[in-house]
Amino acid sequence: MRATAKVPVVTIDGPSGSGKGAVAAILAKQLGFSLLDSGALYRVLGIATLKANLELENHEAIRDLAHNMQVEFGRFGADSVELNGEDISLEIRTDIGSDQASKIGAIPAAREALFQRQLDFRQAPGLVADGRDMGTVVFPDAQLKIYLTASPEERAQRRYKQLIGKGIGAILVDLLRELKARDQRDSEREISPLKPAADALVIDTTSLSLEQVVEKVVRLAAQALA
Ligand code: DC
Repeated sequence: MRATAKVPVVTIDGPSGSGKGAVAAILAKQLGFSLLDSGALYRVLGIATLKANLELENHEAIRDLAHNMQVEFGRFGADSVELNGEDISLEIRTDIGSDQASKIGAIPAAREALFQRQLDFRQAPGLVADGRDMGTVVFPDAQLKIYLTASPEERAQRRYKQLIGKGIGAILVDLLRELKARDQRDSEREISPLKPAADALVIDTTSLSLEQVVEKVVRLAAQALA
């Protein structure tokens, strides 16, 4: 067994807008653990394929790109992401970045190529990993598996408020339609679909505040890691 396999991991999976990213970041900080935002890796690969003008059908080239791209997190602040030295923190969060990441996520060769990169985040004293398949595929032996969910309407509403708060125009019905399309693609793909692990604790956050969810998750983590 690899030595790092003993390092504790908390996985937080769920659809977009479920709050998993925010909860994972707060939990990692409180525990003093590393953070893996696996969606960011899919987003970086998505932007990298666009920059390289690669067709989504060209799985071999996408796999090579995934192996060779240099990705650096957090050099210019908590959310900063660099691709081969270029700051693409904002680019990966655009609608195009989201859509491309979801398409990339359905390509088995891309998932395989990103697998080891994700395992490498498992460093002492521990890791909080958020995504779609952290508890099912990447860290099946995690000490605690959380699956956050919320109604599509609530998740679209959260995204709407986030965009308006940043001064970015948005139309709620369009956001809801895009979110449902992405949900469908992420949960119906053949490889590593979005679904709770059999041993995951499912938390519906529709009527909960971020603080309430964090409180629950922090309590569960304290029990699981004791
Ligand atoms: O978590 P996110 O919204 O940033 O993820 C963006 C896309 O990346 C998501 O729609 C599907 C893909 N993804 C994935 O396939 N597997 C993961 N573990 C994380 C993200």
